[in-house]
Amino acid sequence: MTRRRARPRAKVTSPTPRAKAAQARACANIALAKYWGKSDVELNLPAVPSISLTLDRLVTDTHVAFDPSLASDAIVIDGAGASRTARARVIEMLDRVRARAGIETRARVETANAFPTAAGLASSASGFAALAAAATAAAGLDVGQKELSRIARRSSASAARSIWGGFVKLPAGVPGDTRLAARPLFDAAHWDVALVVAIAAAGPKDVGSTEGMERSRRTSPYYDAWIDAAPRLARAIERGIAGRDLERVGRAMEQSTLAFHACALASDPAILYWQPATVALLRAVRSLREDRGIPVFATMDAGPHVKALCLARDAARVRAALRRAAGVVEVFVARPGPGVEVRA
Ligand code: DP6
Repeated sequence: MTRRRARPRAKVTSPTPRAKAAQARACANIALAKYWGKSDVELNLPAVPSISLTLDRLVTDTHVAFDPSLASDAIVIDGAGASRTARARVIEMLDRVRARAGIETRARVETANAFPTAAGLASSASGFAALAAAATAAAGLDVGQKELSRIARRSSASAARSIWGGFVKLPAGVPGDTRLAARPLFDAAHWDVALVVAIAAAGPKDVGSTEGMERSRRTSPYYDAWIDAAPRLARAIERGIAGRDLERVGRAMEQSTLAFHACALASDPAILYWQPATVALLRAVRSLREDRGIPVFATMDAGPHVKALCLARDAARVRAALRRAAGVVEVFVARPGPGVEVRA
């Protein structure tokens, strides 16, 4: 794919008294090299580089309408009113978009997550990527993808990566850098891999990633070691993706996951995302590799679920094996997916 140098093109259209609306769709992404820790909390800059794969099965559709008849922002997530925290984060992004567009109109935001299950997989990545695209379009701002990635990053750093499809990199941020954005490495067609997602428990996680990584930074004795190790692992993963070398990507990806979980576990109070099914799944992935010779590697985020990266041709066998792991709720297969799209 061509590496485009998108120039930020912020353009303000004249405000009209009518509601202006736009709809956007974004896919969630899974980090192969993990982001855990911020170098600048105010600007939401990651302390480490991360590399992700955008996924086709986990989709968020968001509709935004700036409506002059509204006295305050109205936010509906999956058909229900948003929690206080979610509402505050959505309004923060809307305020930034309004400031840039020079408008004060309140907005109606409707968001729907088309995820195979509601078991704590709901992702801020697809949510804030779709919101950034829909809100800027509805406000009449004509911004490029790089600028969209910056806007998404301010609300959730992983969302900066969901602007692009396929394999994406978000570099570490130098404190004070307002311009940090993710950039595409390779599009979805680059490599025929699959991510087998195994749900290890029902219900939402107890410590959100924003809070978890801050607690790790403040209290974990392993935080500095993690920050030290992460760039080397990200480099190995980037090179492995370029060479379609699953062994290289997989080994570094597993270490990235286990190193950030070790850092989280050693926080005070401890951040323990794992459930019994998590351990059963990690062992099942290892056994597929060591006993059956299938190249497959595990990754996890800030929750109990295990995601297994393998070649697309092995996905059905991996899925069948993970479904047999004790305590597993559901297993589905995701493939590399597209970047954010604004729909008329
Ligand atoms: C463990 O992007 O949710 O999933 O920037 O505070 O919104 P904020 O954090 P978020 O963190 C994701 C952490 C992770 C790893 C990753 O996706 O890289």
